[in-house]
Amino acid sequence: MQDVIAYVDANRSRFVDDLIEWVRIPSVSSDPKHTADVARNAEHLANTLRALGAGRVEVWPTAGHPAVFAEWMGAPGKPTLLVYGHHDVQPVDPLNEWVTPPFEPSMRGGRLWGRGVVDDKGQVFIHAKAIEAFVKTVGRLPINLRMIVEGEEEVGSGNLDILLREKAKDLAADFVCVSDTAMFGRGIPSLCVGLRGLAYVEVFVDGPALDLHSGSFGGGVANPVNALAQMLGTLHDTDGRVTVEGFYEHVLPLKDHERREIESLPFDEKEWLRSTGAPAVFGEKGYTTLERIWARPTLDVCGISGGFQGEGAKTIIPARASAKVSCRLVPDQEPDDIVRKLTAHFTRVAPPGVRVRVENLHGGRPYLAPTDHPVYEIAKRAFSKAFGKPTVFMREGGSIPFVRTIADATGKPCLLMGFGQPDENAHAPNEWLDLENYHLGIKSAAYLYDEIARMP
Ligand code: BES
Ligand code: MN
Ligand code: MN
Repeated sequence: MQDVIAYVDANRSRFVDDLIEWVRIPSVSSDPKHTADVARNAEHLANTLRALGAGRVEVWPTAGHPAVFAEWMGAPGKPTLLVYGHHDVQPVDPLNEWVTPPFEPSMRGGRLWGRGVVDDKGQVFIHAKAIEAFVKTVGRLPINLRMIVEGEEEVGSGNLDILLREKAKDLAADFVCVSDTAMFGRGIPSLCVGLRGLAYVEVFVDGPALDLHSGSFGGGVANPVNALAQMLGTLHDTDGRVTVEGFYEHVLPLKDHERREIESLPFDEKEWLRSTGAPAVFGEKGYTTLERIWARPTLDVCGISGGFQGEGAKTIIPARASAKVSCRLVPDQEPDDIVRKLTAHFTRVAPPGVRVRVENLHGGRPYLAPTDHPVYEIAKRAFSKAFGKPTVFMREGGSIPFVRTIADATGKPCLLMGFGQPDENAHAPNEWLDLENYHLGIKSAAYLYDEIARMP
Protein backbone atom coordinates (compact mmCIF):
# COMPACT_ATOMS: atom_id res chain seq x y z
CA MET A 1 0.00 0.00 0.00
CA GLN A 2 2.93 2.34 0.63
CA ASP A 3 3.68 2.61 -3.10
CA VAL A 4 0.04 3.21 -3.90
CA ILE A 5 -0.27 6.00 -1.34
CA ALA A 6 3.05 7.51 -2.44
CA TYR A 7 1.74 7.56 -6.03
CA VAL A 8 -1.39 9.40 -4.90
CA ASP A 9 0.79 11.98 -3.12
CA ALA A 10 3.16 12.36 -6.06
CA ASN A 11 0.32 12.91 -8.56
CA ARG A 12 -1.84 15.14 -6.40
CA SER A 13 -1.97 18.16 -8.67
CA ARG A 14 -2.08 16.23 -11.96
CA PHE A 15 -5.15 14.36 -10.64
CA VAL A 16 -6.83 17.76 -10.28
CA ASP A 17 -5.81 18.78 -13.81
CA ASP A 18 -7.36 15.58 -15.17
CA LEU A 19 -10.61 16.30 -13.35
CA ILE A 20 -10.66 19.86 -14.70
CA GLU A 21 -10.54 18.52 -18.27
CA TRP A 22 -13.63 16.40 -17.63
CA VAL A 23 -15.57 19.15 -15.85
CA ARG A 24 -15.15 21.36 -18.96
CA ILE A 25 -17.70 19.17 -20.76
CA PRO A 26 -21.19 20.58 -20.01
CA SER A 27 -23.04 17.31 -19.44
CA VAL A 28 -26.37 18.81 -18.40
CA SER A 29 -28.79 15.88 -18.69
CA SER A 30 -32.01 17.88 -18.37
CA ASP A 31 -31.30 20.15 -21.34
CA PRO A 32 -31.81 18.68 -24.86
CA LYS A 33 -29.30 21.24 -26.14
CA HIS A 34 -26.60 19.34 -24.25
CA THR A 35 -27.47 15.81 -25.42
CA ALA A 36 -24.32 15.59 -27.56
CA ASP A 37 -22.24 16.94 -24.67
CA VAL A 38 -23.52 14.23 -22.34
CA ALA A 39 -22.53 11.62 -24.94
CA ARG A 40 -19.09 13.22 -25.38
CA ASN A 41 -18.79 13.28 -21.61
CA ALA A 42 -19.43 9.52 -21.44
CA GLU A 43 -16.79 8.92 -24.14
CA HIS A 44 -14.28 11.05 -22.24
CA LEU A 45 -14.77 8.94 -19.11
CA ALA A 46 -14.62 5.70 -21.09
CA ASN A 47 -11.30 6.78 -22.63
CA THR A 48 -9.95 7.71 -19.21
CA LEU A 49 -10.83 4.26 -17.88
CA ARG A 50 -9.46 2.52 -20.97
CA ALA A 51 -6.05 3.96 -20.14
CA LEU A 52 -6.20 2.22 -16.74
CA GLY A 53 -5.96 -1.34 -17.93
CA ALA A 54 -9.63 -2.24 -17.58
CA GLY A 55 -10.48 -5.59 -19.13
CA ARG A 56 -13.66 -4.12 -20.58
CA VAL A 57 -14.85 -0.58 -21.05
CA GLU A 58 -18.19 0.02 -22.74
CA VAL A 59 -20.51 2.92 -23.33
CA TRP A 60 -24.01 1.59 -22.86
CA PRO A 61 -26.68 3.44 -24.80
CA THR A 62 -30.12 3.88 -23.23
CA ALA A 63 -33.36 5.44 -24.42
CA GLY A 64 -31.93 8.59 -22.83
CA HIS A 65 -28.31 9.37 -22.02
CA PRO A 66 -25.59 6.69 -22.11
CA ALA A 67 -23.96 5.01 -19.12
CA VAL A 68 -20.31 3.98 -18.89
CA PHE A 69 -19.32 0.51 -17.76
CA ALA A 70 -15.84 -0.78 -16.96
CA GLU A 71 -14.41 -3.79 -15.18
CA TRP A 72 -11.14 -4.99 -13.73
CA MET A 73 -11.59 -8.69 -12.92
CA GLY A 74 -7.99 -9.71 -12.38
CA ALA A 75 -8.18 -10.81 -8.75
CA PRO A 76 -9.54 -14.37 -8.77
CA GLY A 77 -10.93 -15.50 -5.44
CA LYS A 78 -11.23 -11.93 -4.19
CA PRO A 79 -14.52 -10.07 -3.65
CA THR A 80 -16.03 -7.92 -6.40
CA LEU A 81 -16.92 -4.30 -5.69
CA LEU A 82 -19.42 -2.43 -7.84
CA VAL A 83 -18.75 1.32 -7.91
CA TYR A 84 -21.61 3.55 -9.03
CA GLY A 85 -21.59 7.23 -9.92
CA HIS A 86 -23.16 9.63 -12.40
CA HIS A 87 -21.54 11.69 -15.12
CA ASP A 88 -24.43 14.06 -15.78
CA VAL A 89 -24.71 17.40 -14.01
CA GLN A 90 -27.39 19.89 -13.02
CA PRO A 91 -28.22 22.99 -15.07
CA VAL A 92 -26.19 26.11 -14.21
CA ASP A 93 -28.82 28.83 -13.98
CA PRO A 94 -28.76 31.49 -12.63
CA LEU A 95 -25.54 31.87 -14.62
CA ASN A 96 -24.84 35.45 -13.52
CA GLU A 97 -24.40 34.32 -9.90
CA TRP A 98 -21.30 32.25 -10.72
CA VAL A 99 -18.05 33.93 -9.65
CA THR A 100 -16.21 32.01 -12.38
CA PRO A 101 -17.90 30.25 -15.34
CA PRO A 102 -19.36 26.83 -14.42
CA PHE A 103 -17.56 24.93 -17.18
CA GLU A 104 -14.22 26.70 -16.83
CA PRO A 105 -13.18 25.17 -13.51
CA SER A 106 -10.84 27.25 -11.39
CA MET A 107 -9.01 26.85 -8.08
CA ARG A 108 -9.54 29.29 -5.22
CA GLY A 109 -9.06 28.86 -1.48
CA GLY A 110 -8.19 25.16 -1.60
CA ARG A 111 -11.32 24.45 -3.62
CA LEU A 112 -12.10 23.60 -7.20
CA TRP A 113 -15.11 25.55 -8.50
CA GLY A 114 -17.34 24.42 -11.35
CA ARG A 115 -20.52 22.53 -12.21
CA GLY A 116 -20.18 18.84 -11.37
CA VAL A 117 -16.86 19.12 -9.50
CA VAL A 118 -18.38 17.34 -6.51
CA ASP A 119 -21.76 16.13 -7.86
CA ASP A 120 -20.58 13.81 -9.15
CA LYS A 121 -17.58 14.03 -11.49
CA GLY A 122 -14.98 14.62 -8.77
CA GLN A 123 -16.28 11.66 -6.81
CA VAL A 124 -16.26 9.38 -9.85
CA PHE A 125 -12.67 10.48 -10.51
CA ILE A 126 -11.74 9.68 -6.91
CA HIS A 127 -12.31 6.02 -7.82
CA ALA A 128 -10.68 6.34 -11.23
CA LYS A 129 -7.56 7.81 -9.63
CA ALA A 130 -7.45 5.18 -6.86
CA ILE A 131 -7.62 2.54 -9.60
CA GLU A 132 -4.86 4.33 -11.49
CA ALA A 133 -2.65 4.36 -8.38
CA PHE A 134 -2.90 0.56 -8.09
CA VAL A 135 -2.50 -0.11 -11.79
CA LYS A 136 0.55 2.16 -12.13
CA THR A 137 2.35 0.82 -9.04
CA VAL A 138 1.29 -2.75 -8.16
CA GLY A 139 0.17 -3.45 -11.72
CA ARG A 140 -3.35 -4.53 -10.80
CA LEU A 141 -6.20 -4.04 -8.34
CA PRO A 142 -6.29 -6.11 -5.12
CA ILE A 143 -10.00 -6.86 -5.71
CA ASN A 144 -12.29 -7.25 -8.69
CA LEU A 145 -13.97 -3.99 -9.52
CA ARG A 146 -16.85 -3.06 -11.76
CA MET A 147 -17.91 0.48 -12.42
CA ILE A 148 -21.23 1.83 -13.69
CA VAL A 149 -21.51 5.56 -14.23
CA GLU A 150 -24.92 6.66 -15.45
CA GLY A 151 -25.89 9.79 -17.37
CA GLU A 152 -29.40 10.37 -16.06
CA GLU A 153 -29.15 10.58 -12.30
CA GLU A 154 -30.03 14.26 -12.17
CA VAL A 155 -33.20 13.63 -14.17
CA GLY A 156 -34.47 10.71 -12.11
CA SER A 157 -32.58 7.69 -13.54
CA GLY A 158 -35.56 6.85 -15.74
CA ASN A 159 -33.77 4.23 -17.86
CA LEU A 160 -31.68 2.70 -15.11
CA ASP A 161 -34.11 -0.07 -14.15
CA ILE A 162 -34.09 -1.44 -17.70
CA LEU A 163 -30.29 -1.24 -17.83
CA LEU A 164 -29.91 -3.02 -14.50
CA ARG A 165 -32.21 -5.79 -15.66
CA GLU A 166 -30.49 -6.22 -19.03
CA LYS A 167 -27.00 -6.06 -17.56
CA ALA A 168 -27.57 -7.87 -14.28
CA LYS A 169 -24.72 -10.31 -14.96
CA ASP A 170 -22.24 -7.53 -15.74
CA LEU A 171 -23.10 -5.75 -12.54
CA ALA A 172 -22.96 -8.71 -10.16
CA ALA A 173 -20.84 -7.92 -7.11
CA ASP A 174 -20.37 -8.67 -3.43
CA PHE A 175 -20.53 -5.05 -2.33
CA VAL A 176 -21.63 -1.76 -3.83
CA CYS A 177 -19.91 1.58 -3.27
CA VAL A 178 -21.45 4.93 -4.17
CA SER A 179 -19.51 8.18 -3.79
CA ASP A 180 -22.17 10.84 -4.31
CA THR A 181 -22.88 12.23 -0.85
CA ALA A 182 -21.32 14.74 1.53
CA MET A 183 -19.31 14.32 4.71
CA PHE A 184 -20.86 15.49 7.98
CA GLY A 185 -18.38 18.36 8.24
CA ARG A 186 -14.87 19.43 7.38
CA GLY A 187 -12.35 16.67 7.99
CA ILE A 188 -14.94 14.27 9.41
CA PRO A 189 -14.95 11.00 7.47
CA SER A 190 -18.61 9.98 7.28
CA LEU A 191 -20.34 6.90 6.00
CA CYS A 192 -23.85 7.66 4.91
CA VAL A 193 -26.23 4.92 6.02
CA GLY A 194 -29.56 6.30 4.89
CA LEU A 195 -30.99 8.17 1.92
CA ARG A 196 -34.46 9.55 1.49
CA GLY A 197 -36.59 8.59 -1.48
CA LEU A 198 -38.51 10.91 -3.72
CA ALA A 199 -41.98 11.25 -5.23
CA TYR A 200 -42.27 14.19 -7.59
CA VAL A 201 -45.51 15.34 -9.23
CA GLU A 202 -46.80 18.31 -11.13
CA VAL A 203 -50.34 19.43 -10.49
CA PHE A 204 -52.21 21.32 -13.20
CA VAL A 205 -55.29 23.42 -12.57
CA ASP A 206 -57.26 24.52 -15.63
CA GLY A 207 -60.04 27.07 -15.75
CA PRO A 208 -61.26 29.17 -18.69
CA ALA A 209 -60.00 28.47 -22.20
CA LEU A 210 -58.04 31.75 -22.22
CA ASP A 211 -57.09 34.57 -19.85
CA LEU A 212 -60.26 36.59 -19.19
CA HIS A 213 -60.77 40.25 -18.32
CA SER A 214 -61.08 40.15 -14.53
CA GLY A 215 -63.56 43.01 -14.55
CA SER A 216 -65.88 41.51 -17.11
CA PHE A 217 -65.59 37.95 -15.82
CA GLY A 218 -64.28 38.16 -12.20
CA GLY A 219 -66.95 36.72 -9.93
CA GLY A 220 -68.42 34.63 -12.70
CA VAL A 221 -65.88 31.79 -13.07
CA ALA A 222 -63.34 30.17 -10.76
CA ASN A 223 -59.73 31.47 -10.83
CA PRO A 224 -57.17 28.62 -11.28
CA VAL A 225 -54.42 30.49 -9.40
CA ASN A 226 -56.74 31.13 -6.45
CA ALA A 227 -57.81 27.48 -6.59
CA LEU A 228 -54.25 26.16 -6.71
CA ALA A 229 -53.15 28.39 -3.82
CA GLN A 230 -56.10 27.14 -1.78
CA MET A 231 -55.21 23.51 -2.62
CA LEU A 232 -51.53 23.92 -1.74
CA GLY A 233 -52.58 25.53 1.52
CA THR A 234 -54.20 22.27 2.62
CA LEU A 235 -50.99 20.20 2.46
CA HIS A 236 -49.65 20.93 5.97
CA ASP A 237 -51.12 21.59 9.39
CA THR A 238 -49.80 24.20 11.80
CA ASP A 239 -47.42 21.64 13.38
CA GLY A 240 -45.62 21.22 10.06
CA ARG A 241 -47.12 17.78 9.49
CA VAL A 242 -48.25 16.69 6.05
CA THR A 243 -52.03 16.29 5.96
CA VAL A 244 -52.27 14.07 2.86
CA GLU A 245 -54.32 11.09 4.03
CA GLY A 246 -52.13 8.06 4.73
CA PHE A 247 -48.88 9.97 4.11
CA TYR A 248 -47.24 8.62 7.28
CA GLU A 249 -48.85 5.17 7.03
CA HIS A 250 -45.67 3.24 6.16
CA VAL A 251 -43.11 5.46 7.90
CA LEU A 252 -40.75 3.50 10.14
CA PRO A 253 -40.51 5.40 13.42
CA LEU A 254 -37.04 6.42 14.56
CA LYS A 255 -35.69 3.96 17.10
CA ASP A 256 -34.31 5.29 20.39
CA HIS A 257 -30.77 4.25 19.50
CA GLU A 258 -31.05 5.96 16.11
CA ARG A 259 -32.16 9.18 17.78
CA ARG A 260 -29.24 8.92 20.22
CA GLU A 261 -26.80 8.33 17.34
CA ILE A 262 -28.04 11.41 15.51
CA GLU A 263 -28.00 13.42 18.74
CA SER A 264 -24.35 12.44 19.33
CA LEU A 265 -23.13 14.12 16.13
CA PRO A 266 -21.45 17.52 16.50
CA PHE A 267 -24.26 19.46 14.81
CA ASP A 268 -24.06 23.23 15.20
CA GLU A 269 -27.59 24.31 14.44
CA LYS A 270 -26.85 28.04 14.65
CA GLU A 271 -24.03 27.71 12.13
CA TRP A 272 -26.17 25.48 9.93
CA LEU A 273 -28.98 28.04 9.99
CA ARG A 274 -26.53 30.81 9.13
CA SER A 275 -25.37 28.80 6.10
CA THR A 276 -28.95 28.66 4.80
CA GLY A 277 -29.62 32.37 5.17
CA ALA A 278 -33.15 31.56 6.42
CA PRO A 279 -34.47 33.56 9.38
CA ALA A 280 -35.36 30.55 11.56
CA VAL A 281 -35.40 26.76 11.58
CA PHE A 282 -38.77 25.28 10.79
CA GLY A 283 -40.23 21.80 10.45
CA GLU A 284 -42.36 19.02 11.82
CA LYS A 285 -43.04 19.39 15.52
CA GLY A 286 -41.47 16.82 17.85
CA TYR A 287 -38.27 16.25 15.85
CA THR A 288 -34.83 17.84 15.75
CA THR A 289 -33.55 19.45 12.58
CA LEU A 290 -31.34 16.48 11.64
CA GLU A 291 -34.17 14.04 12.33
CA ARG A 292 -36.48 16.08 10.11
CA ILE A 293 -33.99 16.19 7.26
CA TRP A 294 -32.75 12.62 7.44
CA ALA A 295 -35.46 10.43 8.84
CA ARG A 296 -38.83 12.13 8.39
CA PRO A 297 -40.75 12.48 5.15
CA THR A 298 -41.44 15.98 3.86
CA LEU A 299 -43.52 17.66 1.18
CA ASP A 300 -42.38 20.78 -0.62
CA VAL A 301 -43.70 22.93 -3.42
CA CYS A 302 -40.63 23.37 -5.64
CA GLY A 303 -42.18 25.77 -8.12
CA ILE A 304 -45.43 27.42 -8.99
CA SER A 305 -46.62 29.20 -12.07
CA GLY A 306 -49.70 30.80 -13.46
CA GLY A 307 -51.15 34.16 -14.30
CA PHE A 308 -49.50 37.44 -15.13
CA GLN A 309 -45.76 37.56 -14.36
CA GLY A 310 -44.74 40.76 -16.18
CA GLU A 311 -44.02 44.29 -14.98
CA GLY A 312 -46.83 46.26 -13.43
CA ALA A 313 -50.45 45.18 -13.22
CA LYS A 314 -52.67 43.30 -15.61
CA THR A 315 -56.25 42.55 -14.69
CA ILE A 316 -57.03 38.97 -15.67
CA ILE A 317 -58.52 35.70 -14.55
CA PRO A 318 -55.70 33.34 -15.63
CA ALA A 319 -56.60 30.36 -17.77
CA ARG A 320 -54.39 27.96 -15.83
CA ALA A 321 -51.95 27.41 -12.98
CA SER A 322 -49.56 24.63 -12.02
CA ALA A 323 -47.19 23.60 -9.25
CA LYS A 324 -44.31 21.15 -8.95
CA VAL A 325 -44.55 19.23 -5.70
CA SER A 326 -41.91 16.89 -4.32
CA CYS A 327 -42.00 14.57 -1.35
CA ARG A 328 -38.87 13.19 0.29
CA LEU A 329 -39.64 9.70 1.52
CA VAL A 330 -38.28 7.46 4.24
CA PRO A 331 -38.48 3.67 4.67
CA ASP A 332 -40.96 2.01 4.09
CA GLN A 333 -42.80 4.62 2.00
CA GLU A 334 -43.16 3.82 -1.71
CA PRO A 335 -43.15 6.55 -4.38
CA ASP A 336 -46.08 5.09 -6.35
CA ASP A 337 -48.21 4.81 -3.23
CA ILE A 338 -47.43 8.42 -2.27
CA VAL A 339 -48.26 9.66 -5.79
CA ARG A 340 -51.64 7.89 -5.54
CA LYS A 341 -52.31 9.49 -2.16
CA LEU A 342 -51.27 12.93 -3.41
CA THR A 343 -53.50 12.59 -6.45
CA ALA A 344 -56.43 11.60 -4.26
CA HIS A 345 -55.73 14.57 -1.99
CA PHE A 346 -55.59 17.14 -4.79
CA THR A 347 -58.74 15.71 -6.34
CA ARG A 348 -60.53 15.90 -3.02
CA VAL A 349 -59.53 19.46 -2.13
CA ALA A 350 -59.99 20.94 -5.61
CA PRO A 351 -62.61 23.69 -5.34
CA PRO A 352 -65.54 23.65 -7.78
CA GLY A 353 -65.15 25.31 -11.16
CA VAL A 354 -61.67 24.04 -12.16
CA ARG A 355 -60.21 20.90 -13.72
CA VAL A 356 -57.31 19.24 -11.85
CA ARG A 357 -54.75 16.82 -13.24
CA VAL A 358 -51.71 15.30 -11.49
CA GLU A 359 -48.71 14.06 -13.44
CA ASN A 360 -45.99 11.80 -11.99
CA LEU A 361 -42.58 13.28 -12.93
CA HIS A 362 -40.15 10.87 -11.31
CA GLY A 363 -39.33 9.08 -8.12
CA GLY A 364 -36.88 6.98 -6.20
CA ARG A 365 -37.06 4.70 -3.17
CA PRO A 366 -35.44 5.39 0.21
CA TYR A 367 -32.49 3.38 1.56
CA LEU A 368 -31.35 2.26 4.97
CA ALA A 369 -28.02 0.43 5.12
CA PRO A 370 -27.66 -2.93 6.89
CA THR A 371 -24.96 -1.52 9.18
CA ASP A 372 -24.54 -4.75 11.13
CA HIS A 373 -22.80 -6.20 8.05
CA PRO A 374 -19.02 -6.37 8.65
CA VAL A 375 -18.22 -4.39 5.48
CA TYR A 376 -19.34 -1.18 7.23
CA GLU A 377 -16.58 -1.59 9.84
CA ILE A 378 -14.12 -2.24 7.02
CA ALA A 379 -15.23 0.92 5.23
CA LYS A 380 -15.00 2.95 8.43
CA ARG A 381 -11.44 1.74 8.91
CA ALA A 382 -10.44 2.60 5.34
CA PHE A 383 -11.99 6.07 5.58
CA SER A 384 -10.29 6.74 8.94
CA LYS A 385 -6.89 5.60 7.67
CA ALA A 386 -6.99 8.28 4.98
CA PHE A 387 -8.42 11.12 7.08
CA GLY A 388 -6.74 10.22 10.39
CA LYS A 389 -10.00 10.63 12.33
CA PRO A 390 -12.78 8.33 13.53
CA THR A 391 -15.52 7.77 10.94
CA VAL A 392 -19.10 8.63 11.87
CA PHE A 393 -22.36 7.23 10.55
CA MET A 394 -24.77 9.79 9.19
CA ARG A 395 -27.76 9.94 6.85
CA GLU A 396 -28.62 12.23 3.97
CA GLY A 397 -31.89 13.90 3.13
CA GLY A 398 -31.19 13.63 -0.62
CA SER A 399 -31.93 10.75 -2.96
CA ILE A 400 -29.97 8.42 -5.23
CA PRO A 401 -32.51 6.10 -6.89
CA PHE A 402 -29.85 3.59 -7.95
CA VAL A 403 -28.92 2.71 -4.39
CA ARG A 404 -32.15 1.07 -3.30
CA THR A 405 -32.70 -0.46 -6.74
CA ILE A 406 -29.34 -2.24 -6.76
CA ALA A 407 -29.62 -3.17 -3.08
CA ASP A 408 -32.97 -4.85 -3.70
CA ALA A 409 -31.88 -6.47 -6.96
CA THR A 410 -28.68 -7.96 -5.53
CA GLY A 411 -29.31 -8.16 -1.79
CA LYS A 412 -25.81 -6.73 -1.30
CA PRO A 413 -24.84 -3.95 1.10
CA CYS A 414 -24.16 -0.49 -0.31
CA LEU A 415 -21.42 1.75 1.05
CA LEU A 416 -22.20 5.44 0.67
CA MET A 417 -18.71 6.82 0.94
CA GLY A 418 -19.04 10.46 -0.03
CA PHE A 419 -16.48 13.24 -0.13
CA GLY A 420 -18.59 16.38 -0.51
CA GLN A 421 -19.23 19.03 2.12
CA PRO A 422 -22.66 20.13 3.37
CA ASP A 423 -22.20 23.67 1.97
CA GLU A 424 -20.72 22.58 -1.38
CA ASN A 425 -23.40 24.40 -3.44
CA ALA A 426 -24.43 21.26 -5.31
CA HIS A 427 -27.22 22.14 -7.81
CA ALA A 428 -26.58 25.83 -7.04
CA PRO A 429 -24.27 28.48 -8.48
CA ASN A 430 -20.61 28.16 -7.40
CA GLU A 431 -20.46 24.43 -6.75
CA TRP A 432 -17.11 23.53 -5.21
CA LEU A 433 -14.99 20.52 -4.30
CA ASP A 434 -12.61 20.60 -1.34
CA LEU A 435 -9.26 19.64 -2.88
CA GLU A 436 -8.12 18.04 0.38
CA ASN A 437 -11.22 15.83 0.29
CA TYR A 438 -10.44 14.91 -3.32
CA HIS A 439 -6.91 13.92 -2.38
CA LEU A 440 -7.85 12.04 0.80
CA GLY A 441 -10.88 10.59 -1.00
CA ILE A 442 -8.56 8.91 -3.49
CA LYS A 443 -6.61 7.45 -0.57
CA SER A 444 -9.85 6.36 1.13
CA ALA A 445 -10.94 4.50 -2.00
CA ALA A 446 -7.50 2.86 -2.28
CA TYR A 447 -7.62 1.79 1.38
CA LEU A 448 -11.16 0.51 0.85
CA TYR A 449 -10.10 -1.75 -2.02
CA ASP A 450 -7.14 -2.95 0.05
CA GLU A 451 -9.24 -3.64 3.15
CA ILE A 452 -11.89 -5.49 1.15
CA ALA A 453 -9.16 -7.64 -0.39
CA ARG A 454 -8.10 -8.69 3.10
CA MET A 455 -11.59 -9.51 4.36
CA PRO A 456 -11.76 -13.03 5.74
N1 BES B 1 -25.73 13.57 -5.15
C1 BES B 1 -27.11 13.83 -5.07
C2 BES B 1 -27.76 13.08 -3.92
C3 BES B 1 -27.54 13.78 -2.62
C4 BES B 1 -28.25 14.92 -2.34
C5 BES B 1 -26.63 13.31 -1.75
C6 BES B 1 -28.04 15.58 -1.16
C7 BES B 1 -26.40 13.99 -0.59
C8 BES B 1 -27.11 15.13 -0.27
C9 BES B 1 -27.79 13.43 -6.38
O1 BES B 1 -27.03 13.78 -7.50
C10 BES B 1 -29.09 14.16 -6.49
O2 BES B 1 -29.07 15.35 -6.67
N2 BES B 1 -30.19 13.44 -6.42
C11 BES B 1 -31.47 13.97 -6.71
C12 BES B 1 -32.30 12.81 -7.15
C13 BES B 1 -33.42 13.12 -8.07
C14 BES B 1 -33.07 13.96 -9.25
C15 BES B 1 -34.12 11.84 -8.48
C16 BES B 1 -32.08 14.62 -5.49
O3 BES B 1 -31.81 14.21 -4.34
O4 BES B 1 -32.81 15.60 -5.66
MN1 MN C 1 -25.10 13.25 -7.28
MN1 MN D 1 -27.27 15.96 -7.83
